[in-house]
Amino acid sequence: METHTLIDNGILKQHLIDPEICIRCNTCEATCPVNAITHDDNNYVVRADVCNGCMACISPCPTGSIDNWRAVPVGRAYSIEEQFSWEELPGELAPHELVAAGAEPATAAAAPKPAVEAPAEPGTQVFRSAQYGATVPPWSAAHPYTNLFPPKNPTTATVVGNFNCTEAGFESETHHVVLDFGSMPFPVLEGQSIGIIPPGVDALGKPHYARQYSVASPRNGERPGYNNLALTVKRVTVDHDGNPVRGVASNYVCDLKVGDKVQVVGPFGSSFLMPNHPRSHIVMICTGTGSAPMRAMTEWRRRLRNSGKFEGGKLLLFFGARTQQELPYFGPLQSLPKDFIDINLAFSRTPGQPKRYVQDLMRERAADLLALLRDDNSHFYVCGLKGMEEGVVMALRDIAQEAGLSWETLGATLQREGRLHLETY
Ligand code: A2P
Repeated sequence: METHTLIDNGILKQHLIDPEICIRCNTCEATCPVNAITHDDNNYVVRADVCNGCMACISPCPTGSIDNWRAVPVGRAYSIEEQFSWEELPGELAPHELVAAGAEPATAAAAPKPAVEAPAEPGTQVFRSAQYGATVPPWSAAHPYTNLFPPKNPTTATVVGNFNCTEAGFESETHHVVLDFGSMPFPVLEGQSIGIIPPGVDALGKPHYARQYSVASPRNGERPGYNNLALTVKRVTVDHDGNPVRGVASNYVCDLKVGDKVQVVGPFGSSFLMPNHPRSHIVMICTGTGSAPMRAMTEWRRRLRNSGKFEGGKLLLFFGARTQQELPYFGPLQSLPKDFIDINLAFSRTPGQPKRYVQDLMRERAADLLALLRDDNSHFYVCGLKGMEEGVVMALRDIAQEAGLSWETLGATLQREGRLHLETY
């Protein structure tokens, strides 16, 4: 792994995350190969003694908040506890301040040692799905606009639609929310996301930070030709451990009324983008609201279906939910033509049925996935629960390996060519 020297002449170039711009999307923490990034309820932070300057986190960050550096005397790095408490980055130290703070050529013993991954014992290497996630878009992706409205300069959108896109009366509820930007340019591509800033302040009296949501509509609008877009938002009523909580942003968004004004930042994302070349195949694997970018890509292909542009390009969808009733867009999915998209639904909590996950269905469709894995025109997109990422990438690996393909080579190729995209949370 290529790393950059962070220590020179007793001065550490400390990697920091700007809390004012960060949208807490977890991409950096998921990407960091040495686990240098962590977070609390307030901030995402970098451990100075673990970061080795490999830069793997820099390009996936949707906002650029990750690309911040401060020169500090070696041994005086900002601790993660300090970083957790920040509301903004500290200023740069002037050269004389650096000296006053104790900067001088460091002794080897005083210098923090960049973390080096210990070579794994043969046969004990841990499988890290994140390492196969691309940080570049497919070669034929359209050019995305990003950060037109950064967190410090949001724009306003008007709610023009909000409905429950799951069956009413079930434990979990997901809303399809349409926002209109009027005459304000807000161009998005399928796979990009936006941030919504909930009004009011948090428990500490600070304004809420923006929450990131994937766009669920294609580039020419939820309604074709309109300057609007759709989001797929699940109402959060329990935390990861099943304890009751009221998700601030998700409840705000799910309760929005037509005509309400919303503060929006973005657009974000420059790699989870769809291919646009003829005969390009898209394999979409998602759970719950991870279906948003898949809906966007599918709808764009559907709108261009009779244009001849993607002649021969396949769409294959693996979509997981607890039950059919809790699967967003179940009804509309049923009306898509079978020769347009190959749909595989995995339900994990259907009474009387065995639990099924998307990766189980992928293994059942191994022959079709293998043909796609062998084809350079295939692009794989994974979006949804963090927990499924490993299972899905392992399924791809096993399908390849059982056919005698080297996953080491294939996985690296998919990553390098922007053909395997992972966005899990
Ligand atoms: P489960 O019934 O085990 O929670 P959610 O409704 O919470 O957003 O989850 C969407 C779907 O993803 C559910 O069917 C859930 O199953 C499933 N899921 C949970 N963990 C995993 C995993 N590790 N791999 C694949 N799917 C998962």
